Amino acid sequence: MSSFLESPKFPVDIVNQAAEKEKKGGGRPEHWEMVFWWTRKPLASARAVLAAAALPPDIDVHTFVTQVLKAKVNLKGQVENVPHRENPSPPPEWRERFAKMKVLDPFAGFGSIPLEAMRLGFGEVVAVELLPTTYVFLKAVLEYPKWAAERGLGEQLVRDVEKWGKWITEQLAGDPDIKELYDPDVAVYIGTWEVKCPHCGKYTPLIGNWWLARVSKGSSEETEEGEEEGAKKKIFSRLAWMDWENGAIKIVDLNKELKTSEIEAKVNSKQGYVVVNGTKRTVRKPNIYARRETGTCLHCGNQIRYISLKTGKHSIEKPKGAETEWYIKHALKQWNQLLEDYLNGKIDLEKLLQSPARPTLLVKVKVKRGDLEFEPATKQDTEKLRKALEKLREMWSDPDIPKELTEPYCSSTYHTIVWGFDKFYKLFNPRQLLTLVKLVKLVREAGKK
Ligand SMILES: C[S@@+](CC[C@H](N)C(=O)[O-])C[C@H]1O[C@@H](n2cnc3c(N)ncnc32)[C@H](O)[C@@H]1O
Ligand SMILES: [Zn+2]
Repeated sequence: MSSFLESPKFPVDIVNQAAEKEKKGGGRPEHWEMVFWWTRKPLASARAVLAAAALPPDIDVHTFVTQVLKAKVNLKGQVENVPHRENPSPPPEWRERFAKMKVLDPFAGFGSIPLEAMRLGFGEVVAVELLPTTYVFLKAVLEYPKWAAERGLGEQLVRDVEKWGKWITEQLAGDPDIKELYDPDVAVYIGTWEVKCPHCGKYTPLIGNWWLARVSKGSSEETEEGEEEGAKKKIFSRLAWMDWENGAIKIVDLNKELKTSEIEAKVNSKQGYVVVNGTKRTVRKPNIYARRETGTCLHCGNQIRYISLKTGKHSIEKPKGAETEWYIKHALKQWNQLLEDYLNGKIDLEKLLQSPARPTLLVKVKVKRGDLEFEPATKQDTEKLRKALEKLREMWSDPDIPKELTEPYCSSTYHTIVWGFDKFYKLFNPRQLLTLVKLVKLVREAGKK
């Protein structure tokens, strides 16, 4: 059975334009701003594809564009509106057709496809998702608004979400533990692991990506996973990265340096260089490659490779026959075990902090006058992570701390487990864990209220 989707009359150009308008800055659906999600499909194209797949090949294209897609197209063939902002209003016979059909989206993600299927009035819409977070988002996007709207409670739901969202945020920000652990003017902390170098004995951070900002003009901030820029000349509104100097993180902020919000530059993020005004600047390559089982100490420049599980000695080549492990993996596993021992009251904080691997902070990001400002994290900042450990230990018997094994939820070869992250609480840094546990309590309290 063929459909309008397969017909040469299907208005691909218009659907593309509508989708592009939606994804570019300013056109995104409001609910997308709740959270970042990968490869979300534009509502316009989801709607067009669903409806076209359900309609016969010989339908009227104009009706499709104006009543289903809701695109306002000018005489030059350009879409002038952001179509997803309007609900579709298909002719009754099309609606009847949709009402007899079921839509199943087995990889629903953030739910663009099932949402549009519902707006088109398909008879039954089923969304399936593997990740618990997404499952909750799907409920918020697909179920609750519909439930409320059907009972005339739509407006109230909006007001309630606003009111209680604000309440939760205020309570959390006002919590004395949280206040003590965060600086009020820091929007984002960028952290990583540091390991004790087996050569020089100093702790070196492990940095897989030295970039802080690489925003070119006209691109939407949400890039597809794995997207890479070539070395073409472009205008950048923001270019900043981290460097390492005298044993510490240094910030290179080109906008600040050149005092401009428009930098014409050639950037190759993979090879790590930036060319501005004929001068080539290098951005460091990662000092950790997990797949190749290598790391490099930023202090002494030596490679970090294998540790003998018998003698504890480090070697660059993997010794034949001897039982060895990549030092960095070994160090992280040790942190995870020592963390558990510390929280269970078996060892003290000093012992935990002697672990060959431990979480650390690199950079603080502040928002000043609508712009990002980067600062290297200080000892006092890292100290706050440690303070969170003490607070966690005090509340260790709390049932909201997720101490369950991760294993039943993912295969034993799943990559977090081989690094020693065998329980859910180990997946967060101490401050994140403390904050999230408090957030869970507040969400529950708001629900009761
Ligand atoms: C590319 S995203 C889908 C995006 C979605 N179409 C949207 O517009 O938001 C793919 C989704 O499939 C989910 N997924 C992957 N494998 C799955 C499985 N076996 N069962 C259910 N969901 C799965 C992933 O968690 C991810 O959210
Ligand atoms: Zn070293």
